[in-house]
Amino acid sequence: MNMIANSLKNYLKCRQIQINFHRFSAVLLDGKRISKQVQNEIKAKLDYRQKNGLKVPQLTVIQVGNNAASETYIKNKLAAAKYVGIDSKVINFNENVSEKDLISCIKDLNTDANVNGILVQLPLPNHIDKKLICNIINPNKDVDGFHYQNAGKMFYDIENSIKACTPLAVVEILKRSNIQTLGKTAVVCGRSKNVGLPIALLLQADSKKTKWGLDATVSICNRNTSRSQLSDLCKLADIIISATGVPNLITADIVKPGACIIDVGITRIQNENGTFKLVGDVNFEGVSKVAGHITPVPGGVGPMTVAMLMQNVLNTVES
Ligand code: GUN
Repeated sequence: MNMIANSLKNYLKCRQIQINFHRFSAVLLDGKRISKQVQNEIKAKLDYRQKNGLKVPQLTVIQVGNNAASETYIKNKLAAAKYVGIDSKVINFNENVSEKDLISCIKDLNTDANVNGILVQLPLPNHIDKKLICNIINPNKDVDGFHYQNAGKMFYDIENSIKACTPLAVVEILKRSNIQTLGKTAVVCGRSKNVGLPIALLLQADSKKTKWGLDATVSICNRNTSRSQLSDLCKLADIIISATGVPNLITADIVKPGACIIDVGITRIQNENGTFKLVGDVNFEGVSKVAGHITPVPGGVGPMTVAMLMQNVLNTVES
């Protein structure tokens, strides 16, 4: 049988006919399932704390205006908090709230001993300086990990930084799915301060120096990376992490067979019939036939990000 298959392969090769004999069907990295697993572990720790009279953390979310996507994100965060046993509360501000009033509210929360985690849902209206707001939050309560002090500690004091939830989500998916990273080649598409850059930083970090290190060789692409550069880099990559918000950026023809694909992108697009759907950066249909592992959108990195937020909130009372 093998002989027949080999002769057929050779024949087709000679005739320059392209038939893929080794089509991969990628293993789905189910973010929803892994997120539930992480949440159950957090829940067990919080149940223990509750039963033993130890402090149960409190998360306060600040919402400004009523951005539809933010409403959904906040709903998911509150549902997860309730599930794991974290106390939570939302403070709603009108779209026109002044920067001064917002700052005053955050300063009160900063010194409130009953509040352990503070999260200001983004985006904020244009008249409010996002950077200023993120840096008013007490860095020890900054469960988003967006404060300069936490971002800076990623470089200089990684063990003691509160890390942004999306990079943590990517790392947790890789680890819990037993994806090998040591000595592997990785490409990160996107260089944002809260997503692409910290993901690349964790991927390249030295495991001999930090428990966060993943020891990969990493390239970071951005909007100026040409398609041919992107293609050359991706074709060599064992791991591709895409966080650009550009649908169909990663196509099957630039993916190395067996590679692990983590899709952080999330874009709302309109179907032909007028309805909307969420898509990632990766052409899932094509790439899943070539890759070894792949995250779906939705149901991949998104739910894991919420689980990692719960972990950050738990850490505020554990560490
Ligand atoms: N808006 C979209 N994603 C996030 C996030 O991770 N944190 C906050 N605060 N706002 C967001």
